[in-house]
Amino acid sequence: MTILVTGGAGFIGSNFVLDWLAANDEPVVTLDALTYAGNLANLASLNGDSRHHFVRGSIGDAALVGQLLRGQGVRAVVNFAAESHVDRSISGPAPFFETNVMGTLHLLEAVRAYVAGLDETKRQGFRFLHVSTDEVYGTLERDEAPFAETNPYKPNSPYAASKASSDHLVRAYRETYGLATIVTNCSNNYGPWQFPEKLIPLIIHNALNRKDLPIYGDGLQVRDWLYVGDHCSALRRVLEAGVPGETYNIGGDNQKTNIEVVRAICALLDAKRPRADGASYAAQITHVTDRPGHDRRYAIDPRKLAGELGWRPAEAFETGLARTVDWYLANETWVADVTSGAYRDWVARQYG
Ligand code: NAD
Ligand code: TYD
Repeated sequence: MTILVTGGAGFIGSNFVLDWLAANDEPVVTLDALTYAGNLANLASLNGDSRHHFVRGSIGDAALVGQLLRGQGVRAVVNFAAESHVDRSISGPAPFFETNVMGTLHLLEAVRAYVAGLDETKRQGFRFLHVSTDEVYGTLERDEAPFAETNPYKPNSPYAASKASSDHLVRAYRETYGLATIVTNCSNNYGPWQFPEKLIPLIIHNALNRKDLPIYGDGLQVRDWLYVGDHCSALRRVLEAGVPGETYNIGGDNQKTNIEVVRAICALLDAKRPRADGASYAAQITHVTDRPGHDRRYAIDPRKLAGELGWRPAEAFETGLARTVDWYLANETWVADVTSGAYRDWVARQYG
């Protein structure tokens, strides 16, 4: 038995592969195109581990995917592969639709052909787990109930629209072809190996490099933060016991404003690596022009996953954030490697 993990060299995918192989011996094939967001260094600890096989390639390459599925006797696909950064989707939406929509379509086609050739027992056991986001539900008012699985889709950014489209495709493959698909919609993740374009690693990186800490608008937007290890444990549980055709929202019941998060990071850095001049890193906070179409609040209602599959997060935000800051302080070489020329070009375009 083997699972195929797509996008497994990215932030959540690499955490998932490492956690999976730490928890059990079932082999993993990782398929990743190694875009700017994919880094093989994330999986370096698996070098020489016969349970792990890495293949560089795209989910849009149905022939390659078909070959991997048949060659490795795959029993489940976990699809993380995507373009994932909202700001990049605003400055250039096309790659989001090429990967997240057309890529997912080609992946589903390859999977459908493969599953059709399986015997009845293997077909019954096969799962396609599509990893998606709470951003498909749009934005919440301050006092509105958190997103439940029954909320309508109202995506506001090109990224969210592309993920919503992919979720609809996955649903259609269930309804039309009977593929055993499951969709998960998770809130904002944080933790090791997150590319420093997303809020938490960007703030840590900028703080240490004495750069401005850019807060979009008033900084009172709310996100529901989940430690990446908790997302991975939820996905393992869904793969094990989730019902095909169902969707599950994953969240940590951890709503924070952006400014609270940034101040918490500054306080941790003040304690762990004080600035030489004795000032707080908070002095670097700068309010910048707001993101267009910026969703004001996300929050997840996690009751379905808790009630039906018994999953709960293990990490509190305070300890998870401290672990994350420690990881970035201990892995400055990784950060230096990924903040390459391409990264610097992006930062110059985005923040001037
Ligand atoms: P990421 O950008 O860090 O990683 C994406 C990975 O996909 C990279 O390794 C990249 O090389 C790979 N990839 C891109 N195009 C590919 C293609 N055509 N074929 C194969 N691989 C390709 O993203 P992430 O934050 O790890 O997110 C993973 C998934 O989880 C995404 O689908 C995202 O929408 C979803 N998600 C993310 C969050 C979050 O907070 N980061 C929250 C909920 C859901
Ligand atoms: P981000 O990490 O990009 O995740 P998402 O847009 O998927 O929620 O951003 C998290 C929040 O932080 C979001 O409200 C936008 C905000 N933000 C800033 O204020 N400044 C920044 O430089 C970045 C990257 C994000």
